[in-house]
Amino acid sequence: MAQIFPKWTNQVPRKILIGLIVTLNAIIFGIWYFFSPEFTDVGYAPEQPVPYSHQLHVDQLGLDCQYCHTSTFDSKQANIPATQTCMNCHNQIQTESENLELVRESWETGASIEWIRVHNLPDYAYFNHSAHTTVGVGCESCHGRVDKMEVVYQAEPLSMSWCLDCHREPEKYIRPVEEVTTMGYKVENQLEIGRELVDKKNIHAPTYCQGCHY
Ligand code: HEC
Ligand code: HEC
Ligand code: HEC
Ligand code: HEC
Ligand code: HEC
Repeated sequence: MAQIFPKWTNQVPRKILIGLIVTLNAIIFGIWYFFSPEFTDVGYAPEQPVPYSHQLHVDQLGLDCQYCHTSTFDSKQANIPATQTCMNCHNQIQTESENLELVRESWETGASIEWIRVHNLPDYAYFNHSAHTTVGVGCESCHGRVDKMEVVYQAEPLSMSWCLDCHREPEKYIRPVEEVTTMGYKVENQLEIGRELVDKKNIHAPTYCQGCHY
């Protein structure tokens, strides 16, 4: 019979050895799988408690992102709008709709609607919205075509290499600040305009570790 294992292993029960090899492989596979940038939440689209549609409110009704996400330009965190913002219109529009029952209930009781979070970075990575929006990184560069989403999904990986791709070459993405909430923004001479903006605003996106981990 061919010797698969060296002689000394004769003393060790085969079962244990094979078990060890299998476990080791599983651990290595696990680490590789869960920590590799290929394992991402792209496409994650949890069902929300209220069937709110960005496609309807942004694309069809023409509301600007900042009408609801008011803090994206002046704070670290983007906010989800309070029920009051919905009631600006829905105290008069679709007041009998079943789809808006939770909104009316939240309005009457004062309890917030429990929206399910779509985008989530781990705590050990630092991220600040206003640092990006105020220099001209568009919402769509990180969140995709939200105006076409019936249900919000994660459009980009939010992985470290994804962050770094832009930090190394921001000129590929930077746009005038007035265009940050524009969906479908496109210019033919992006690199030229991008480089001008990067120079003018003296943009230095961190690529050293402590820039995002501290
Ligand atoms: C009328 C209010 C309103 C407007 C206008 C609006 N949103 Fe939202 N947005 C919401 C609400 C409510 C949620 C939470 C429910 C959901 O995820 O659909 C949300 C969720 C999101 C999320 C997911 C947040 C998470 O949980 O990670 C993103 C990203 C987002 N909006 C981006 C945008 C962008 C970009 C625009 C402009 C193109 C925009 N929104 C316009 C109300 C609005
Ligand atoms: C600027 C006004 C405006 C604001 C603000 C607004 N909506 Fe609307 N919403 C509308 C209009 C207009 C419609 C479409 C009504 C129709 O189809 O007759 C609509 C439709 C809806 C519907 C579908 C209702 C149905 O039964 O067809 C839902 C759900 C909804 N909105 C949720 C929300 C939520 C949640 C918010 C707050 C985050 C919000 N809306 C903020 C104007 C608004
Ligand atoms: C450079 C990339 C980037 C840009 C630009 C950006 N976002 Fe985000 N956004 C993120 C990341 C990353 C998260 C998750 C943050 C976290 O988990 O701390 C997020 C989270 C959110 C959330 C959920 C916040 C919460 O606390 O639930 C909303 C809403 C949102 N963004 C809206 C916007 C809007 C609107 C714009 C444009 C005005 C915008 N974002 C621009 C990367 C970006
Ligand atoms: C599409 C382009 C783009 C993407 C994607 C992007 N960034 Fe940035 N980021 C920038 C630019 C441009 C700056 C420089 C701003 C300046 O120089 O004022 C910046 C600056 C920063 C800063 C320094 C400013 C501050 O807030 O202290 C941090 C930290 C940062 N980004 C973290 C992240 C993380 C984490 C991600 C991924 C989840 C990310 N960025 C994704 C373009 C981007
Ligand atoms: C532009 C921001 C940014 C910079 C610069 C950065 N990281 Fe990260 N890093 C992240 C983000 C965001 C994550 C979370 C990725 C995820 O959730 O998939 C991360 C995750 C990690 C992880 C966890 C394992 C992984 O790959 O997901 C390690 C380890 C790490 N970073 C080390 C480093 C080291 C070492 C450096 C310097 C060479 C560095 N990072 C520079 C943003 C950054």
